[in-house]
Amino acid sequence: MPVKNILIIQGGGRAKGNTAQLVEHFIKGAEEAGHKAELVSLLKHEVKGCLGCNACRYGKPCIQKDSFHEIVPKVKEADCIVFASPLYFWTVSSRIKAFIERFYCIAEEDTNPPLGRYEKYPDKDCALLMTAADNFFWTFEQAVSYYQFTLVNYIGFHDKGMLLAGGCGDTNGRPQIEETDWLRQAYEFGKRIYA
Ligand SMILES: Cc1cc2nc3c(=O)[nH]c(=O)nc-3n(C[C@H](O)[C@H](O)[C@H](O)COP(=O)(O)O)c2cc1C
Repeated sequence: MPVKNILIIQGGGRAKGNTAQLVEHFIKGAEEAGHKAELVSLLKHEVKGCLGCNACRYGKPCIQKDSFHEIVPKVKEADCIVFASPLYFWTVSSRIKAFIERFYCIAEEDTNPPLGRYEKYPDKDCALLMTAADNFFWTFEQAVSYYQFTLVNYIGFHDKGMLLAGGCGDTNGRPQIEETDWLRQAYEFGKRIYA
């Protein structure tokens, strides 16, 4: 199996919380399968949302001074970008959303874009890891819809799967993910993502 470069972008969650644990187990599985996994926490590396100034569309670097610039080379080198987030108000965290908005400045001109797309993005695989307190059939609906429309349909990343860990308890108490089966599933997901 070829070694893959997997970049995990974690968009928040408590330091040793449900999301951090889910990510940790995913990484363990991926590394045991021989892949290279790198975690970037958007709590430690602040990435602000796009300002829409369009400087990047005139050949200039993004005017914002934040951590996005140091993450861009990692994005370009990665074979797969894994987006990890707690469910906040029924969708991905604002940090993940802000990070994805900044893809605006790494888009390239596409002279022959497929229907519904205006520009070209780096060719990558992607995956989604999420945790939530609730576990209804619709709990992750908005997050999944955003992931599928934005990252898969529009940006054109190739979906390698989603792990939607509902029923992990709310943030009013201690993280409860270790009482569920999700950590084992995250490990298996990491291990088999390229099997
Ligand atoms: C601001 C905020 C909003 C939340 N919104 C939701 C929600 O809409 N649905 C839900 O099921 N859980 C919601 N939760 C609970 C978290 O998604 C859940 O506890 C998650 O596992 C916390 O991740 P962490 O332990 O990594 O911090 C919310 C928690 C916070 C702090």
